[in-house]
Amino acid sequence: MRARRRIIAVVGVVAVAASVAVVAFASTTAAGLPAYTNGYQKWPKINKKPFTKCGPPCAHGGIKNVYASRKKIGKKYPNGTVIVKSIVDQGTKYVGKVAVMRKVKGRWQYVEYTRDNPKSRYTVLAKGQLCQSCHAQAKANDYVFTKR
Ligand code: HEC
Repeated sequence: MRARRRIIAVVGVVAVAASVAVVAFASTTAAGLPAYTNGYQKWPKINKKPFTKCGPPCAHGGIKNVYASRKKIGKKYPNGTVIVKSIVDQGTKYVGKVAVMRKVKGRWQYVEYTRDNPKSRYTVLAKGQLCQSCHAQAKANDYVFTKR
């Protein structure tokens, strides 16, 4: 019963809104991040204290925290795990960058998002091979530098 009501509601939304808006709504949060990062601030943090140093190897400056949606099983994170690093850039007081790793079919996908004020939406800053090539240095910990 409840499921049917939800379907009717969704159909209503589709009928009213432009299809582009619906697609954006389905895949991203209001802030412009992918929906699979929703609520990351409440996931277990895998760093003990906020990182304030850059590296080595250095890629992400600022004050950083790392959140993981799932726990490692043995030496690896399971498929579907999302790891978010929030970054408060030097001289600012809001999260201006969000670096994301998401494991799909045994491989990590990497995307980093940025915004230049706390009210604007995030846009993609960088992704893919650039990230992967440096994270290869953390291969022994399933490509994740931060250890719980
Ligand atoms: C030159 C090396 C380097 C590059 C390039 C790099 N990273 Fe990282 N990344 C690190 C290091 C080192 C850490 C550990 C935390 C820290 O020092 O900030 C880290 C941490 C992370 C974390 C938290 C999980 C972990 O591994 O500790 C995520 C998520 C992340 N990076 C995503 C990305 C994405 C997305 C990109 C590409 C846009 C990227 N990284 C590019 C070095 C790199």
